This record gives sequence, structure tokens and C-alpha cells, in this order.
Amino acid sequence: MSIQQNIIWHDSAITKEDRRRQNGHHSFVLWFTGLSGSGKSTISNALAKELYDRRIGNYVLDGDNIRNGLNKDLGFSDKDRTENIRRISEVSKLFVDNGTVVLTAFISPFLEDRKKAKEIVGEDEFIEVFVNCPLEECEKRDPKGLYIKARNGEIPDFTGIGSPYEEPDQPDLTIETSEQSIPACVDTIIEYLERRQLI
Ligand code: PPS
Repeated sequence: MSIQQNIIWHDSAITKEDRRRQNGHHSFVLWFTGLSGSGKSTISNALAKELYDRRIGNYVLDGDNIRNGLNKDLGFSDKDRTENIRRISEVSKLFVDNGTVVLTAFISPFLEDRKKAKEIVGEDEFIEVFVNCPLEECEKRDPKGLYIKARNGEIPDFTGIGSPYEEPDQPDLTIETSEQSIPACVDTIIEYLERRQLI
């Protein structure tokens, strides 16, 4: 028996299009993916400020923060990472329905999970941004001291060391954080969004 039995969907009196019209802008997800320390949080927060200054309603969903609340029951096994990304995808979809631009900053290491995230959010409203930074550079930065712990065997399933990171095949956008400054990365994303007439 399905646990969804006796659950009936209610249509909302206010549509996504109504909310977008009222907000005066489109809504979509910028899905940042990349290694720990690659710059996902820094870039998504800098972009959030730029969008806010342009009066574009947005919200950042960030791995460390969400794992403190909504996903505090999840660890870093493959299964838990998959569930982490599934929940974030569903939450992102709700934000998009609310007419909000969502910036997600999760390692989201598995191709299959990101593919499902795109299906959940909707293909036209999902923009995959590969935050590309070589492992050696992330390890050199090691902002939280996690790589050194992983190398010492204290975090056995750390992404890039004991757990894989599957690079996107065809990301919508790639930013190279070891080559470009944060403001330059933000400019690249803004230009992309303007080109697609999303902002
Ligand atoms: S995932 O793979 O998408 O489910 O991970 P995410 O929710 O983005 O969480 C990544 C942050 O958790 C910290 N952390 C780890 N990362 C990777 N592997 C392991 N084992 C791990 N343990 C803790 C780390 O601070 C990650 O933050 P970022 O911002 O990516 O550096």
C-alpha cells in the first residue's frame, strides 16, 4: 500500500504566473555544484546581494545551513546525499512556485541526483552552474580544515578524497573560481541571465 494514499492535491488560487507578475521578475533555480571549498557559498551569496540590489527576490539554500535544520537527520552516505538533494529540489520547486529566484549551494556530487533535481524543479527553470576548481586548489584553500582531516582518515567519505565528485556533462554555465575573482564570476552569471532574458 502506498503511503501517499488518501492524499489529494489542492490547486492554489494564486498561480506561479500571478506571483511572478506581482514580483516583476521570472523565477528559477541556479543550481551551483562543485567540490567543498570551490566557492559555491561565496558566489551564491555575492550573487544574492547583486540580485537583491536589483530588487529581484531571491533566497540562498546552502548545504551547511540546511544540514543544521531541515536535513539534520542526514549524513554523507551516498543514500543520505541523494535524499539531501531530493529534499532541496522539492524545496526549490516551492520557492520557484512562489516567484522567487533560488540559489542552491550543495556539493551535489552525483550526476543522477542532479538529473532528478532538474526533473523535480522543471527543465526550463533549472540552471546548472558548475563551480569548477581543481581539487588541489580546494585542498590548498581548506577553509574549514576538512581536507586535512579527510587526508588523516578522520572523514572517510569526504568528497574528492574518499567519495566521488561526478562533474557535470553539460552544465548551463561553468565558472572557474581559481582563475576568476568573485565579482568577475558574479558578472559572468549576471550576463548569462540577462542574455537569456531571465532578469
Ligand atoms: S552533498 O554532498 O551535496 O549532500 O553535501 P552538502 O549538503 O552540500 O554539504 C557539504 C558540506 O558539509 C561539510 N561536510 C562534508 N562535505 C563533503 N563530504 C563530507 N564527508 C562532509 N562532511 C562534512 C562541508 O562543510 C561541506 O560544505 P562546503 O560548503 O561544500 O565546503
